[in-house]
Amino acid sequence: MENATPRRVEHQQTDRGYVPVYATGVVEQPWDSYTVTDHEVWNTLYRRQRELLPGRACAEFLEGVERFGMGENGIPKFADLNDLLAKTTGWQIVAVEGLLPDEVFFDHLANRRFPVSWWIRKPDQLDYLSEPDLFHDLFGHVPLLLNPVFADYMQAYGRGGMKAFGVGPEALMNLTRLYWYTVEFGLINTPDGLRIYGAGIVSSKGESIYSLDSAAPNRIGFGLERVMSTRYRIDTYQQTYFVIEGFEQLFDATRPDFTPIYQRLAAKAPHAAGDVLDADRVFNVGTREGWATNADT
Ligand SMILES: [Fe+2]
Repeated sequence: MENATPRRVEHQQTDRGYVPVYATGVVEQPWDSYTVTDHEVWNTLYRRQRELLPGRACAEFLEGVERFGMGENGIPKFADLNDLLAKTTGWQIVAVEGLLPDEVFFDHLANRRFPVSWWIRKPDQLDYLSEPDLFHDLFGHVPLLLNPVFADYMQAYGRGGMKAFGVGPEALMNLTRLYWYTVEFGLINTPDGLRIYGAGIVSSKGESIYSLDSAAPNRIGFGLERVMSTRYRIDTYQQTYFVIEGFEQLFDATRPDFTPIYQRLAAKAPHAAGDVLDADRVFNVGTREGWATNADT
């Protein structure tokens, strides 16, 4: 099979814009169909991030990359990564065609399965892609699944998602913001300074630099309700990054029943992506340089 393409089933207008919707089933990773170019794209992206991330990504992430033996030897085989996951945290990667509907995604996480898009971006998309591909899903998300506390947080998030699905769209939005500001764009405070753990950052060269080095964005201490009530950007770097003190803090935050929190938040207007509040623990108030002022999600 040459130049295999993911099976899109339809397009859908959603609150996140016009997004493709894929067949939702789990597939075999079609490893033999990857072209030389596909493997080169992996190697290039891997090399760039591996050079950039020491001193920027958190130790747990870098350790995960090493333990999986990711490298410049082409796209990893999911089956190999799954051997190690099975022996450690019990997670499994499953290959999918692309973004999944919320309830399907939550069900995977709740059962310790992480969906990974099997296809990789094209060489002219190294720096930006509007939807998650294999490099984002695999390099960005999977290394931290070897960390026992983070692995439990991801499962708790999936279970929370199943529940929120029954509560309603506003609850789901609150929960989506939690994922966005932690799993995708989270920073962590360490004795050596702020480090990256969010998959959306570690898989992006530009944001790996911007999130830590730029004076423009806010960096604010994590709070569950603060994050759940803060809108976000999908089209630019983040205006605010939330900083956790450790993965235990994340897992502990998901312990309580969210239902009363959803009710409380429903009565209040959400904060803009770039707001700084009096109650915030502020690491850095952004200069707001280069910020777009409209269209937070
Ligand atoms: Fe992601």
